[in-house]
Amino acid sequence: MSAATTEEVLVLDFGGQYSQLIARRIRECGVFAELLPASTTVEQIQNRNPKALVLSGGPASVYDAGAPEFPEQLVELGIPVLGICYGMQVMAKALGGKVEGAESGEFGRTELTVTGDGGVLLGGLPDEQTCWMSHRDSVFEAPEGFTPIASTPGSPVAALESAEKKLYGIQFHPEVVHTPYGTEVLKRFLREVAGCEEQWSAASVVTEQIAAIREQVGEGKAICGLSGGVDSSVAAKLVHEAIGDRLTCVFVDHGLMRMNEAEQVVEDFQHFGIKLVHVDAEERFLGKLAGVTDPETKRKIIGEEFIRVFEEEASKIEGADFLVQGTLYSDVIESGGSDHAATIKSHHNVGGLPEDLQFELVEPLRMLFKDEVRAVGTELELPDRMVWRQPFPGPGLGIRIVGGEVNKERLDILREADHILHEEVGGANMYRDLWQFFCVLPVIRSVGVQGDGRTYAYPVIIRAVTSKDAMTADWARIPYDVLEKVSNRIINEVSGVNRVAYDITSKPPGTIEWE
Ligand code: XMP
Repeated sequence: MSAATTEEVLVLDFGGQYSQLIARRIRECGVFAELLPASTTVEQIQNRNPKALVLSGGPASVYDAGAPEFPEQLVELGIPVLGICYGMQVMAKALGGKVEGAESGEFGRTELTVTGDGGVLLGGLPDEQTCWMSHRDSVFEAPEGFTPIASTPGSPVAALESAEKKLYGIQFHPEVVHTPYGTEVLKRFLREVAGCEEQWSAASVVTEQIAAIREQVGEGKAICGLSGGVDSSVAAKLVHEAIGDRLTCVFVDHGLMRMNEAEQVVEDFQHFGIKLVHVDAEERFLGKLAGVTDPETKRKIIGEEFIRVFEEEASKIEGADFLVQGTLYSDVIESGGSDHAATIKSHHNVGGLPEDLQFELVEPLRMLFKDEVRAVGTELELPDRMVWRQPFPGPGLGIRIVGGEVNKERLDILREADHILHEEVGGANMYRDLWQFFCVLPVIRSVGVQGDGRTYAYPVIIRAVTSKDAMTADWARIPYDVLEKVSNRIINEVSGVNRVAYDITSKPPGTIEWE
């Protein structure tokens, strides 16, 4: 996944809320795209030899002090450029066009009128179409040598082009679904202006990454910490395809997994013929967690113990110099850029390992978005239940037993209740509509009546949310009849539980997990 092997398009990120989405859409058009910070120099861009450059939108006005500028030397290089929103304004202003703050901006759905022949980007598309806008400044006059190709009520020049200089600009956002012809416009820029071919796909990632892993690891040996999650599973499978038995996976089973999950991981990896060390460390973890009620302390204990167990096991694997990690592109972006400095995936995760482990990292997914990782997983013939597994916190059920100690009895209750929820919601075909759904066990008891007697038992809380990225979430509207069935089954089948509650809090103000 580099300029050496694949055509690539670079997206300069001026801080717009849709910048990542631009890169994703370009990839969906079959062309590899990477996001770079606005501070990237022209020389750095030139060294990457991209097929094209896209300038993203951004929150600044071109007249703000310190607003990101258009790298003018670009024009000399002849690299095709597409400016989107702020990216178009900054280009138009730098090249002598007139950009001004309009009296009112345009936000949301806006009617776009194609002018003239519409140029390469809009020619032949409907004269009147809807697009998505989010801007205050507008381009009032195109720079010399440019042709305006569209307008909207608030943007006299809503799109422009200079075929000769290969510079293009659109005020609207082609990357959002509310711009029906957005993908078509991007495709035209990529194919007709930049001459990109459709080369990027899950299959091409697999082929490229296998070659890259072979080159990196050579005759060496690698280890991979498995969590059962999609990222580490896909990373492990890719590396296994590349180096076979020279990969050993280590699965630290902390006893805080959901029902049958540990067995499933072991079975799946055995089925793939991947060497796996399954460390049953339940007693060790539960021993350390005895008597601990504070959530942060629980997290810390689980994290530290995980590292200790992993280190012990890793040291038994002779001659392993490489550590496989399922780092994703979002981790790379969040940790400050796409330089190839080794950052350990510690964010929010128990899988984070200490930096003094003397390993070279192998990170075959570091350029991929989550949905692309799933596509690669499918390409590698991983089972759907692995590819579509919901996010599950590294500390596992340890953070879903709240307000009291984590122990075997409570874990078993939680596992049984959670299993019923999964059977019923999965059975109702809702699995992929929900971001996450699970049970929480608060360590309190309340009174109930079952049969002829009063009970004094735990409640179980059902948490189910819809979300796109876990940053915000809404509580899921699971139909009452499904909830009713779940509730009945939990009360009837799980001893120690006499009450089921449904969490109807969105995020914010709530979080997805309790803890
Ligand atoms: P919250 O609860 O912060 O969760 O809304 C956001 C997402 O992160 C997951 N999560 C974790 N994942 N280790 C992880 O690997 C953790 O300690 C952890 N805590 C929360 C959570 O399941 C949700 O998807």
